[in-house]
Amino acid sequence: MDYKKFIEEQIAQIKKTVGSETAINALSGGVDSSVVTVLGHRAIGKQLKTVFVDNSLMRKDEPNKIVKTFAKMGIKVELVDARKDFLSALAGLTDPEQKRQAITDTFYSKVFGDLVKKSGAKFLLHGTILTDIEETVAGIKRQHNILAQIGIDTNQAYGYSVIEPLATLRKDGVRKVAKLLALPAEICNRIPFPGPALAARIVGEVTEEKLQTVRQATAIVEKELGKTGAFQYFAVLLNDYATGIRNNKREFGQIIVIRCIESIDARTATVTQLPWNKLNRISQRITSIKGVNRCLYDLTPKPPATVEYV
Ligand code: XMP
Repeated sequence: MDYKKFIEEQIAQIKKTVGSETAINALSGGVDSSVVTVLGHRAIGKQLKTVFVDNSLMRKDEPNKIVKTFAKMGIKVELVDARKDFLSALAGLTDPEQKRQAITDTFYSKVFGDLVKKSGAKFLLHGTILTDIEETVAGIKRQHNILAQIGIDTNQAYGYSVIEPLATLRKDGVRKVAKLLALPAEICNRIPFPGPALAARIVGEVTEEKLQTVRQATAIVEKELGKTGAFQYFAVLLNDYATGIRNNKREFGQIIVIRCIESIDARTATVTQLPWNKLNRISQRITSIKGVNRCLYDLTPKPPATVEYV
């Protein structure tokens, strides 16, 4: 595939579709939405408003880091604080699909819906890729960014039309486009991170306290495994407790699972054979997090497991 030509075509298409109207897009900092942001800005400049919604489910320092990275590229990103909206929508929910649904609804109907209305934008630029569409249509998983393909008329439901410049690409293609667009290496090579963010890394109810725990664990895992070149690595907080000992006292503590996988496109995956001393070090660091007294390494490939736990 000629990716240079792809870029030119997409820019021309966005320009033509939006015309003299305005468009909006939500940047998550992942490679897909980052590429869409740059394509959109090259196509229509100031007619595109880019927002970053802080849903309280992000990794450590993520919102500010992303805003700064794009500012360096001359792209203004508006940071929207919607932490309370998402936390209250997730309160009491334990079922994985209900949690995903609550995030989708809060994002599209409430937070983003309000932003679009206020902005008057007629178009939404979306970072949907081919794999998202295939998996959702096949009923494997409802990716939160799939709308039209499952019969949702966005114009009727939300008042805007959706433009999906990446709908024919898979992740490897998106990364190639990202490089050609001169996006910084930390974005081009970012490991996948799910739309429902850290809510996908907490089995059971999402609370602020649990988010804090899994956020700390995620930072440790990303730091420790960043140089392995593995496809994806992360921490998951289980909904179970186990007995342990801390300061010579029994403690009924939380359990963190480390997952590190090799894959091409996340449709299948094998487990990375991490060195024992690496695993040991991670275990020591993870169990120094307040309330966590057990650290497990997940040995399950996909299938039968999925990559995420939720
Ligand atoms: P699963 O858990 O389905 O994950 O084996 C496959 C890949 O997709 C990522 N993932 C998501 N990405 N929105 C996304 O943008 C989502 O809702 C979502 N769920 C899973 C996951 O991290 C893995 O790379």
